[in-house]
Amino acid sequence: MVISLIVTAFWAMLPAYIPNNAAVLAGGGRPIDGGRTMGGRRILGDGKTWRGTAAGTLAGLAVALALNVVQPTLSSLVGFSLPSFPVAAGFALALGAMLGDIGASFLKRRTGRERGAAFPGLDQLDFVVGALVLAFVLAPAWFTATFTLPLLAVVLVMTPVLHVVTNVGAYVLGLKNEPY
Ligand code: CTP
Ligand code: MG
Repeated sequence: MVISLIVTAFWAMLPAYIPNNAAVLAGGGRPIDGGRTMGGRRILGDGKTWRGTAAGTLAGLAVALALNVVQPTLSSLVGFSLPSFPVAAGFALALGAMLGDIGASFLKRRTGRERGAAFPGLDQLDFVVGALVLAFVLAPAWFTATFTLPLLAVVLVMTPVLHVVTNVGAYVLGLKNEPY
């Protein structure tokens, strides 16, 4: 059923959706690249900090563990079984989301885009790809059992839509400097 696929996709990706937003709230401090440059441009830029990355990863993991607590109740409420998250899976989704975003900043700097510049497509999917790849690497059995092909398709279509909506929201609320 389409509805159960959408609900399951949102649920399974929540530990990957939270980290970037937590990083926005917690960011600041020492940049990961320490100010170093490559080819005359910053390796990553001031927008990728140790504090934001650590806070984002921990927030995503915490969400996964919290979802585990409510999983039985919510599963019986919706009438189908929502996945629970082994620690390795929750950690991989959260850290993978952060690493995908960091990888995107690396690509932005190499292509001459300054901090905060948009890179349509990459901005909406970098963290999804990072989260899915790291979950596949660190929790392969869980990943293949959870992310069926239809679920992956829903995730890839739904995430860019959610990303645009939440970032415009954060911009309107004054939490982000750009609406993307
Ligand atoms: N942030 C952070 N550490 C991260 C990711 C994000 O500290 N690993 C914080 C930074 O304060 C950053 C803000 O969250 O400015 C918004 O994140 P993002 O839009 O990803 O960064 P940008 O500042 O737009 O930089 P970039 O162009 O490199 O994406
Ligand atoms: Mg940005």
